[in-house]
Amino acid sequence: MRITVFGATGLLGKTLMREWKDDEVTGLGSADGDIRDENKVEHLVQETRPDWVVLAAAYTDVDGCESNHDLAFDVNCRGAVNVARAARQQSARLLFLSTDYVFDGKKTAPYESGDARSPRTVYGQSKAEAETKVAEILPECCIVRTSWLFGAGGKCFPDTILKLAANRPTLEVVTDQRGSPSYSIDLARAMIQLCHQKAIGIVHVTNRGECSWYEFAREIIACAGLKTIVRETTSDKFVRPAERPKYSVLSPRSLQERGVAMPDWRDALKRYLSLRGSG
Ligand SMILES: NC(=O)c1ccc[n+]([C@@H]2O[C@H](COP(=O)([O-])OP(=O)(O)OC[C@H]3O[C@@H](n4cnc5c(N)ncnc54)[C@H](OP(=O)(O)O)[C@@H]3O)[C@@H](O)[C@H]2O)c1
Repeated sequence: MRITVFGATGLLGKTLMREWKDDEVTGLGSADGDIRDENKVEHLVQETRPDWVVLAAAYTDVDGCESNHDLAFDVNCRGAVNVARAARQQSARLLFLSTDYVFDGKKTAPYESGDARSPRTVYGQSKAEAETKVAEILPECCIVRTSWLFGAGGKCFPDTILKLAANRPTLEVVTDQRGSPSYSIDLARAMIQLCHQKAIGIVHVTNRGECSWYEFAREIIACAGLKTIVRETTSDKFVRPAERPKYSVLSPRSLQERGVAMPDWRDALKRYLSLRGSG
């Protein structure tokens, strides 16, 4: 198959480019073409003649989106529409990356792929609107929602915790936000499987299991063999421009139905820290 990846220079995109071995993959970053430029996107898709377009490009600064509403919608929604139209014109399939932020975080049981969208942030709204529009343009597209992404090649929570732990004897981390971490390698492998099986519809892809950021931080410190003390705190002590969902665990059901299994997040974290330590 021929694959064209938009967002190949981001955390997930870099991993996808490393993991995708059996197909002919073209990776594009914003320097190759801005997804807001309809003609450029059309040209890039025509030129690369993909069977699948993977759209991992996005304006991902959740707090930045709050003060840059137009930019968020231009990139995350209009950009996605441009890519979907170009894929349709080329009769290519589309895998669009989305997020747990399309939900409001008020549930107390895992979000199913069919649950109603209810975003509470500009980032979440821009991605939720993109999901709807992309599916209107390409009803047979695959929308992969993920959460709490970590891995090599970008800013991520384990790196932040280890950096802070290097300089502080204690850290305070919130207990009142729960989700599922997703290791970029495991996510990329699941996405490749989904493309190979020509998956259609909304699929939730995260590592197995759930935790709070506090539990995630404790596991990072323990795995790294550090003595740093991690203390519990709550979100009201860390007010940020974009509200974080209190609970955004994505149910694995939609992925299991497609026969794809994900490792537990603790196992994924161990593999990431070991790779990080060795390299
Ligand atoms: N990070 C998370 O925790 C998380 C959670 C849930 C869902 N997601 C979704 O997963 C996907 C990948 O996230 P990520 O963390 O890997 O992203 P990232 O590291 O922030 O990378 C963003 C990518 O988008 C590209 N990009 C940004 N604006 C662009 C534009 N106007 N035109 C073309 N390309 C543009 C960047 O290109 P350059 O670097 O070349 O500028 C980069 O390749 C995104 O769709 C995101 O919404 C992420």
